[in-house]
Amino acid sequence: TQAVGLVGWRGMVGSVLMQRMRDEGDFSLFEPVFFSTSNAGGAAPSWASGAGPLQDAYDIQALKKLPIIVTAQGGDYTKRVYDTLRQEGWNGLWIDAASTLRMKEDAVIVLDPVNRNVIDAALAKGVKNFVGGNCTVSCMLIGLAGLFKQDLVEWMTSMTYQAASGGGAQHMRELLTQFGLLNQSVAGLLEDPASAILEIDRGVLAKQQDPALPRDHFGVPLAGSLIPWIDSDLGNGMSREEWKGGAETNKILGRGEGFNTAPVPVDGLCVRIGAMRCHSQALTIKLRRDVPLDEINSIISEGSQWAKVVPNEREATMQQLTPVAVTGTLDIPVGRMRKLAMGDDYLSAFTVGDQLLWGAAEPLRRMLRIALG
Ligand code: HSE
Repeated sequence: TQAVGLVGWRGMVGSVLMQRMRDEGDFSLFEPVFFSTSNAGGAAPSWASGAGPLQDAYDIQALKKLPIIVTAQGGDYTKRVYDTLRQEGWNGLWIDAASTLRMKEDAVIVLDPVNRNVIDAALAKGVKNFVGGNCTVSCMLIGLAGLFKQDLVEWMTSMTYQAASGGGAQHMRELLTQFGLLNQSVAGLLEDPASAILEIDRGVLAKQQDPALPRDHFGVPLAGSLIPWIDSDLGNGMSREEWKGGAETNKILGRGEGFNTAPVPVDGLCVRIGAMRCHSQALTIKLRRDVPLDEINSIISEGSQWAKVVPNEREATMQQLTPVAVTGTLDIPVGRMRKLAMGDDYLSAFTVGDQLLWGAAEPLRRMLRIALG
């Protein structure tokens, strides 16, 4: 069996990835070599029976021995190690969760239920870099795979509601700390049913505006608020997260720059909200033609095994189309579908996906399986 180097397996994305690989029996297919950026020489995880001690994740010679490296260590690690590794002549497969290499010409964004054809063509051409997509994009495409496979989308807007986990583990902690402090600041008033709601509201606002409220990671309070900007400012009115929506969607689909098919415009505003780990998106889809809703339902249900059409009704929506309902599952529910007032070729939809599963870990473990044959 082949050896596979695993880097960043202990972080949030890495832990979800390891769990999924264990659940699916992936570890029976290769010999894992665990790397660490901080604890070389330490013990491999106890569940990986027979794995040797942790290797130094910055040791190029050690990395070079592996035919396949999977990393969820993050973009800084990729920046620090990847170029040197290639310059030193390493010719193995690099499977990465970080965005660093995603848009490079010699890298494929992996989402095999949607672009297995692109992945296979790249492998046949000798491409060696396979990178997981942006979480919002991957979750949206697993949900809407059917519409894209049938080339029914002329353009689309995606207005997002993105969870704290997209920022990282520290962001999730900060959000919960903020929630807790807000609650504490008005706990006495909350307990008294006769207290005035506007007084509670004033107390919450005072806490949110208190410079002592922890906000190192988000920069501003998120609890009881939202942040309509994610990732860096591209200077043209667009956030980097918004740019990714269009650029990565098309690259995954094998459209636009470098491909023979015209790109599908995908654009919208990305917003951080106080959810934990599911990203949601409200979509306006301009169809290439007027497709009846029942047909759209079957196209979406059949588009991928994980896309689940939620009836556009109040109760089903409330029970099935929320971050709480979806967290920890691979399902990508798609609901709120109806034709909009703009015309019968305008479709609305709302979709939710676990940002750590289809948004990060799942495409990587599936790519590893493809690579192992
Ligand atoms: N950029 C995403 C977010 C993270 O901040 O939600 C996953 O790609």
